[in-house]
Formats: sequence, C-alpha cells, structure tokens
Amino acid sequence: MFRYFVAQTAPTTDKMPAETGTDIERAALLLKAGKLVAIPTETVYGLAADGLNEQAVLSIFKAKNRPDFDPLILHVSGREAAFSLAEYVPVKARLLADAFWPGPLTLVLPKKAHVPFVVTSGLDTVGLRVPNHPLTLSLLKQLDFPLAAPSANPFGYVSPTTAQHVLDNLGDKTDYILDGGPCTLGIESTIIGFENDEPVLLRKGSLKKSDIEKITGPLKEKINVSGNPKAPGQLAAHYSPKRKIVITEPENIGLLQTLPRPVTLLTFGNLFHAWENRVDRVLNLSSEGNLAEAARTFYGLLREADQGPESLIVTGYLPAGEMAEVINDRLQRAAFPFKNTSHE
Ligand code: TXA
Ligand code: MG
Repeated sequence: MFRYFVAQTAPTTDKMPAETGTDIERAALLLKAGKLVAIPTETVYGLAADGLNEQAVLSIFKAKNRPDFDPLILHVSGREAAFSLAEYVPVKARLLADAFWPGPLTLVLPKKAHVPFVVTSGLDTVGLRVPNHPLTLSLLKQLDFPLAAPSANPFGYVSPTTAQHVLDNLGDKTDYILDGGPCTLGIESTIIGFENDEPVLLRKGSLKKSDIEKITGPLKEKINVSGNPKAPGQLAAHYSPKRKIVITEPENIGLLQTLPRPVTLLTFGNLFHAWENRVDRVLNLSSEGNLAEAARTFYGLLREADQGPESLIVTGYLPAGEMAEVINDRLQRAAFPFKNTSHE
C-alpha cells in the first residue's frame, strides 16, 4: 500500500497567486494559449486545459503532482461534441447521455485517434462529460476544443468545492480561477464504462446508481480495485486531509478517553449527539440529517477540519441512503490507512 504526501499550501514558485473572477473571455483566451484555468462545475472545481494540446495537458499533471497513470476527463458543451471524441458509442451510452447530460455523469468510451494518450494515460478509452454549470457551459461553447480537467486539488488531497479552495492549494499554479460559486452537488461525477456494450459502474458519484439503472437495467460494478489500470483514480488512499481521521461508531464513545486531544468531531445530524459536548470542536455535515446537504458540505468541512489548532478528526459512516454510500466511499479513502473499524 502506498500513500501520496503532497505539499499543499506554501507557494514554491515566484508566480503570483491566480486572479479569481467571472471573466469568461479571459478564461477562453488563456485556455487557447495553452494555460491552466480552474473551472466551476456542479460537482467539484476542475483544473482545466486544452485537452488536445499535449503540453497543456502535461502541465495539469505537473500542477497537481498527479501520477501519469491516472487519466483525465474531457469536458465539452454537449452530446455531439462529446461523441465526436469517441470512436464508437454504444446504444446505452446514448440513452444515458440523453437522460443525464449536462450533469454529473462521465462516460468512458473508445477514444478517437486525435485524443492524445497523455489525456487517457495510454488507455484506448476516454472519459467524457458535459458539466452542468452555466459559466463553464458558456466557456465551453466559445472553445473549439474539449477541456481536460481533473479535480483542482493537489493529487490525493481533498477535492475543491469553492474558488477559494482552489486558490488555497493551487493558486500559484493556475493562471486564472473562474468563480462560479460553491458547487451545488459537492461530490464528483459518477463514472460509467462499457464492456460488450453493457454499462459498468467504475466510480460512484453524484448521479445515483438507481437513477442510472432506470435507464440501463442492473449495473455491474468494478470499483476500488487498487492498482487496477482501468480505474486508476480508485486508489485506496484519496481525498485525504493532512490530519489523521478516525472512523468509529457512535456507540464506541469510550474511545474518546483514549484519544489524544484536541478532537474535532465530523458528524451528521444527531449521529454522534452524545459526543458533542465531550469533544473540542464539532463540524456537522447537515444538522437536519439531509444527505444532499452532506454531499455539498463534505469536502469543505474536511478542509475546515484540517485547519486551526492541530487536531485529530473523529467521524463515522453515514447511515442508510444511496448518497450515504457514496460519501462513505470518499470518507473511507480520506481516512485510509487510519480507519479503525471495518465497513461494508
Ligand atoms: O465530477 C468530476 O468528475 C470532476 C469534475 C471536475 O468534472 N472531475 C474529476 O476528475 O473528478 P478526476 O481527475 O479527479 O477523476 C477522474 C477519474 C480518474 O481518476 C479515473 O478514475 C477516471 O476518472 N477515468 C478517466 N478516464 C478514464 C478512462 N479512460 N478509463 C477509466 N477511468 C477513467
Ligand atoms: Mg480527483
């Protein structure tokens, strides 16, 4: 098992921190010149560059300190633009595109020859997505190339859901940050690949599996095979704050006496109610116990837990619900290898 440790905040270059704003023309000019622009989407912020310009794409990997085996998603303004990058489009891919684009769905399809292998990490397939954000959609409409964009965080660190998050970690490595406000969904897109024309779930995300199955029928899953080159983003350790996270159950309150202080509790609704007065700081993903709100606040609160006086982060898996499963998947990777209870 391995874990990436990435320098996060201190600027190491003499480059000035990127400007943040809503100037689409400026963003378009920079992108045409091969520069890096952070873009808002409904899921998380992306670090974008011209997806057909190899040098520009390489600079994304460099800025993020991302290993070259982890392929990027290409973002486009609509279904025709997306499918023009694919050699072949299965019927069920078309149905999914009709149902969910623009939206939090990435389709992995056989790539056309002109899609550079730096984007796909040498794979013959490419991830394609039409993001649902007005600023980014109008930006994409001004460009005659797709935008390669991974989440705009240093590799392995917590994903960004505001322009400020991007500025905090990649401000000195980005040429402009397009500020589209806080992301409305807060968790990455759901990724679907195809085997013999049948859809396969490669990454759980904001689009619910049950909604996909209404269109496709039962979905096979191929998730979390660490080191599997077909799903290289699915590493056991990912989305991690610098501080140690302990995952436990609310009943296990005795644990608290054994832990070094201070302790930050990352909770959900009333899940850890009995703990709240006995810890040093409480961050609640959703005091109403709303899973959509928890998805939206999740990465921001992980970042908050990572700031202020050095503290251990204690949390637990969210109770039943499809989005709970998706958030728990991220939580497990964020905590790896520190989790102290198993989770199915
Ligand atoms: O919501 C999202 O998907 C965000 C926003 C910015 O669109 N993007 C995002 O990108 O999460 P990133 O780079 O953090 O994760 C992309 C993941 C890769 O790690 C990999 O697992 C998968 O997409 N992927 C991309 N191309 C693939 C391919 N050809 N085959 C299999 N998996 C692929
Ligand atoms: Mg990411």
